[in-house]
Amino acid sequence: MKRIEFSEANAKTKHPAKVVVAIVKDKNGKFNPITLEWYMKTSIKPPMFAISIGHTRYSYECIQQNRFFNLCFPSKEMIEATKLWGSKSGRDMDKLEIAGHDWFDGRLAKYPIIKDAKATFECQVITQVKSGDHTIFVGEVKYSWLDEEKEVQTVKDLM
Ligand SMILES: Cc1cc2nc3c(=O)[nH]c(=O)nc-3n(C[C@H](O)[C@H](O)[C@H](O)COP(=O)(O)O)c2cc1C
Repeated sequence: MKRIEFSEANAKTKHPAKVVVAIVKDKNGKFNPITLEWYMKTSIKPPMFAISIGHTRYSYECIQQNRFFNLCFPSKEMIEATKLWGSKSGRDMDKLEIAGHDWFDGRLAKYPIIKDAKATFECQVITQVKSGDHTIFVGEVKYSWLDEEKEVQTVKDLM
């Protein structure tokens, strides 16, 4: 055991990590998917997830305006979409449309449930806390969706 720089210790302890996608909605009603590594389950009763979104992201503006998000666990069929949603901004394009994955309306606030995903949790934002250059949004899960047949993606699938 030796003392080390944070970046090196972090790089060597973070894998394997799952990747998720939060789908948020902008002020014009356009849905915007953002790829995220920083998420966690934070409560069992009621079920809750937290996601951490950087202040420079378009999704940060969106979730401040519309207080819901769908937390999507992308399947291996969605690797190209997850890459796109994690590298381009919804400021410049309709990321959901371009990726071409079909979806249907969820039950909570009609946010998209992507048919090719492994799972989706429909969340309502309950609280938020600033964490340096990101903000953590905590969402209560209202509805859950799962496709037993699909295989979940990890961050390594994107490398
Ligand atoms: C594997 C991966 C994980 C990422 N994790 C996060 C994250 O946890 N939080 C975050 O704010 N951005 C994260 N990003 C970066 C955003 O997905 C990226 O900046 C995106 O283009 C922002 O889109 P937007 O401007 O439409 O919100 C990640 C990107 C990748 C590829």
